[in-house]
Amino acid sequence: MNSSQYMWSDLLPEGSGIVPIGNVIDVADSHFPIKAGPCGLHAGLNGPGGCSANHAILPSVRSCYLPLSASGVGALTRYSAVVGSMVERAEQVARELLQDELPRRWEHVQGVARRAALASPLFSVDDADLLVAAALLHDIGYVSRLSTARFHPLDGARYLRAQGFPRRLCALVAHHSCAYREAELRGLAADLAEWVDEASDLRDVLWWADMTTTPDGKPTNIDDRIEEIQKRYGPEDLVTFFIRQAKSELAGAVERTEERLQAAGIGYIAK
Ligand SMILES: [Fe+2]
Repeated sequence: MNSSQYMWSDLLPEGSGIVPIGNVIDVADSHFPIKAGPCGLHAGLNGPGGCSANHAILPSVRSCYLPLSASGVGALTRYSAVVGSMVERAEQVARELLQDELPRRWEHVQGVARRAALASPLFSVDDADLLVAAALLHDIGYVSRLSTARFHPLDGARYLRAQGFPRRLCALVAHHSCAYREAELRGLAADLAEWVDEASDLRDVLWWADMTTTPDGKPTNIDDRIEEIQKRYGPEDLVTFFIRQAKSELAGAVERTEERLQAAGIGYIAK
């Protein structure tokens, strides 16, 4: 692979997912083609507070990491989306809620966030930030102290609203992966209707990322994912009934997203 074939997402250290602002990637130890240098986009802004555009900062030289790949400005912009402040906050909230109580769920949401980050070149920087944040937060409603309605998309969205997260992010969480169908089965459709499913390309990517990530955070395909859910919950469970009902809508979001990824030349592993 020559350096021009690297994509911005290659900058994410394997297994760690999101790189918080200020995190240092060991350049000597890295297999990524990165260098530390003044941020070409934000020359003059590399003062004591670092680059104001939320790029990853190397504290000793207060510089942005720049990919050496030919993707240039685009790559830098995308990277900044991944280290943006909403993602950082989402990562912190999700970690605090999930890591100890639901460690497997924590692995899952990090995997979903990696999938979302892979697809984020399809979007503007702000939308990419929103997408990765939603991926990190989509399952927090499983945490026991948040589970008042006992329906995780609704409980998650309510908690995020109370924490002051943007309404659009709350709506993405409320409606992730065809939640409205399960809400109907649980008699919670009116509660969920407080948020509107934006039914956009970005929402499709969130559904795709969730439906192509195993409970342990590994990439999979939608058929295996749905089969695993049915097995885990058992034939009599409402979730099994729901996932069967939702399958064609979920598959639609997966198909549309994979077509868009292919058209944009973004490689993804389907298992
Ligand atoms: Fe999920």
